[in-house]
Amino acid sequence: MSDQDKRVAAEAAVKYVKNGMTLGLGSGSTVNWMLQCLSERINEGLQVRGIPSSKKTEKLARELGIPLVDFSTTTHIDLAIDGADEIDGALNLVKGGGGSLVREKVVDACADELIIIADSSKVVSQLGTFPLPVEVLPFGYEVTMKNIERLGGIPVLRRKDKEVFVSDNGNYILDCQFGKIEDALGLHGKLIQLVGVVETGIFAGMVEKVIVARNGQIELTER
Ligand code: A5P
Repeated sequence: MSDQDKRVAAEAAVKYVKNGMTLGLGSGSTVNWMLQCLSERINEGLQVRGIPSSKKTEKLARELGIPLVDFSTTTHIDLAIDGADEIDGALNLVKGGGGSLVREKVVDACADELIIIADSSKVVSQLGTFPLPVEVLPFGYEVTMKNIERLGGIPVLRRKDKEVFVSDNGNYILDCQFGKIEDALGLHGKLIQLVGVVETGIFAGMVEKVIVARNGQIELTER
């Protein structure tokens, strides 16, 4: 994991931003670099507005002077830029390590184009080493855990500083180990049908471009 590579990937993604765009602003440490780069371009005169995918992103974007709107202003996003926890060769992703998967999916799914930025540690041959985040309703989450176990997963209730982690939406996150994930969309389909599951961290078939930085060099993969 390299901060320098995160910044290199972020800088490369911001080059795709054009004047007048409405941007989907993802979440996570790599996106934080992107927000820095974006604010530099805004200071130079670029005119854009962003829809943030988490409270943390919203806070940092405001601090950096990035104009923000929400879905009450527009339901159209030209370009979303987001990070990922795992990226496979088919550009399927596991996301949600930071706990923002639901809002990220809402934002990323309605963008005309989604660019994922990452350092090379996120590239995998098959998804599943990183436990899959699944956002669930707090009510009856114990039942939801049992149902995930019946699908072959090992769910762990996420905690932060010994307290149960609560998402921006007031929900819990179950980090689920499924071993190597052969069929990402199939697994998402089974999980999303369980009562109590709000969303999964599998982002399949959503990405147009992945920008990975490895030792300062950009690797661009396009769908
Ligand atoms: C947030 O919930 C995540 O989906 C992030 O986009 C993902 O965890 C990548 O974060 P980093 O850029 O901090 O690794």
